[in-house]
Amino acid sequence: MPRKSASRATAAIPADIHVPPDFGARVVNWQRVHGRHDLPWQNTRDAYRIWLSEIMLQQTQVSAVIEYFQRFVATLPTVQALAAAPADQVMALWAGLGYYSRARNLHRCAMQVVSEHGGVFPTDPTVLATLPGIGRSTAAAIAAFSAGVRSPILDGNVKRVFARCFGIHGHPGERAVETRMWQLAGIALPAAGPRQAEDMVAYTQGLMDLGATVCSRGKPACLADAGACPLSADCVARRDGLTGVLPTPKPRAAIPERSTVMLMVRREREVLLRLRPGSGIWGGLWSLPEMPVETLPFDAEAAEAAAFDYARAYGAPVRAAIAGELTHVFTHFRLLIRAIRVDVGAGDPMVQDGATEATQRWLSLDDLDALGTPAPVRRLLEDQARGGLF
Ligand code: ADE
Repeated sequence: MPRKSASRATAAIPADIHVPPDFGARVVNWQRVHGRHDLPWQNTRDAYRIWLSEIMLQQTQVSAVIEYFQRFVATLPTVQALAAAPADQVMALWAGLGYYSRARNLHRCAMQVVSEHGGVFPTDPTVLATLPGIGRSTAAAIAAFSAGVRSPILDGNVKRVFARCFGIHGHPGERAVETRMWQLAGIALPAAGPRQAEDMVAYTQGLMDLGATVCSRGKPACLADAGACPLSADCVARRDGLTGVLPTPKPRAAIPERSTVMLMVRREREVLLRLRPGSGIWGGLWSLPEMPVETLPFDAEAAEAAAFDYARAYGAPVRAAIAGELTHVFTHFRLLIRAIRVDVGAGDPMVQDGATEATQRWLSLDDLDALGTPAPVRRLLEDQARGGLF
């Protein structure tokens, strides 16, 4: 029988894919000279800081993360402090970073590390990957950075580097392509041995840095003088002029559009906010009440009249008027938000729509930082405040 002795890990790798034996060493050496060394979550083995940064960086760029990271660790410096923090505080620290399930999982994960691991992050990537919000690649990155564990990562940037370097066609989100990449990622690691721990820190960071800087999506700097790519001599995409083609993009379905009408019920300098349910978009954030009005075709006059009516529960409404509109793009749909402002006079504010005292608040516009609000809602409110309307 052919190839009976081939290991499972290498059997599926076609013979035409070549992993240079010094792949890992080249990335390590490149990172030490040209990589990033001063990010606030580097030069530490503190698994809490490393884990927090990896979760923030999962869907957000370094430049946007830095400020959030610093504020977060200054406020909640340990996993114990995070585990004990109220959910509202965690959401407020996360507000603006997006993908809020990350923050909910972050909080759950901290509680689990405290209750099940004595407040110490595991170093085994397979154990890390059982915790909320930690996938296989994030687990490997945390283990490498905090404990020098020799385990491969495969995030979006690394997939791009591999697709180009090894000439892998097919969208990396497809299971077969991803499986092959994980196999290659295992083979490409720097050698095990006495320098393994420090090499794994440089290697893991080096792959991320290569993907974020030299091997960028738009215009890879394969042969730039400074920081030239350490893999360019063996890179299939560079050799064959395929850097614009690889990685193969995902076949795109048209992204659907939804719309909603949000109410800014204003009472002096305060606006009415509602706590959104824990799951779904903006789960756990404080947002504006939304109104179930017919929006296709949108009839502004009817919507304003409905808003006026709605606001009666909060005091005598004075006027209702469209105050702004914007489109927010989520991963799976675009949301057209129309905001109607209703000023109400003094009254005896009630709750409605199934809200309770705990899930409805009047917030002064000066206190927006105190609660986590979705970024587009915050923008709408700040526009109003800037226009002198509050
Ligand atoms: N993206 C994911 N993890 C990262 C890290 N540790 N440094 C920079 N960018 C990253």
